[in-house]
Amino acid sequence: MKKKEDQIKEIKKYRRKYYDDYAVNYDKEWWNDEDAFDEFKGFKKLVHVQLNEIVLDIATGTGTFLIEMVKSGGIGYGIDQSPKMLDHLKQKVIQYKLEHRIKDVRVGVADQLPYRDQFFNWVTCIGMFEYYPLEYIKRVFDEIIRVLKPSGKCFVDIINPYNIKVEKMTWVFKYNLDDFERLIQSYGLKILIKNKAGYMLQYLLSRINSKKTVLN
Ligand SMILES: C[S@@+](CC[C@H](N)C(=O)[O-])C[C@H]1O[C@@H](n2cnc3c(N)ncnc32)[C@H](O)[C@@H]1O
Repeated sequence: MKKKEDQIKEIKKYRRKYYDDYAVNYDKEWWNDEDAFDEFKGFKKLVHVQLNEIVLDIATGTGTFLIEMVKSGGIGYGIDQSPKMLDHLKQKVIQYKLEHRIKDVRVGVADQLPYRDQFFNWVTCIGMFEYYPLEYIKRVFDEIIRVLKPSGKCFVDIINPYNIKVEKMTWVFKYNLDDFERLIQSYGLKILIKNKAGYMLQYLLSRINSKKTVLN
């Protein structure tokens, strides 16, 4: 158990530095990547935020997806453990004059969300799960479920373990899909849509009840 704990701590530390260093090039490279563009299209197809719905984007990075949700009428909150990635998001908020729609952008981790219970209509977490073992994802879902309204929706993505492009990616976690989907369902989340996008799988989820069932 201690080993797993240490592993998660190490990954967080490594990824924080990695994204702080990469922040300046992140957006430029992202939009040149065909797979990332596919992911963006999938997101647009699945996530329909209504006017004044409150949205939280976990691991928001430079805020590509947070900004989209806010442009659709959402009131935005973003959290990420890399201060440098968030600096770029903050610049974009000013550039697009979205200060009145983005309420809070802060440095923090996905497994300790500094928000009230049942506060959000939407919680998204994009491009983060692949860095962590499922044990960590459970903690993130504990928090997602806590802050999501009973009528709320959630959008997350994971690596598609069947995509040929991920075969050589040794630095990402490729979950067994049955395990991942059982985990989702144990939180009383229903899979509304599952979508292949680039080498990721995107999940649109809704709450069906507020109780977590115990996984064996
Ligand atoms: C691939 S980027 C995705 C950024 C954004 N969601 C997007 O799709 O453009 C991964 C992001 O996850 C953040 N991150 C990694 N581990 C995290 C954690 N445990 N808690 C919060 N943010 C984390 C990184 O700092 C980075 O900004």
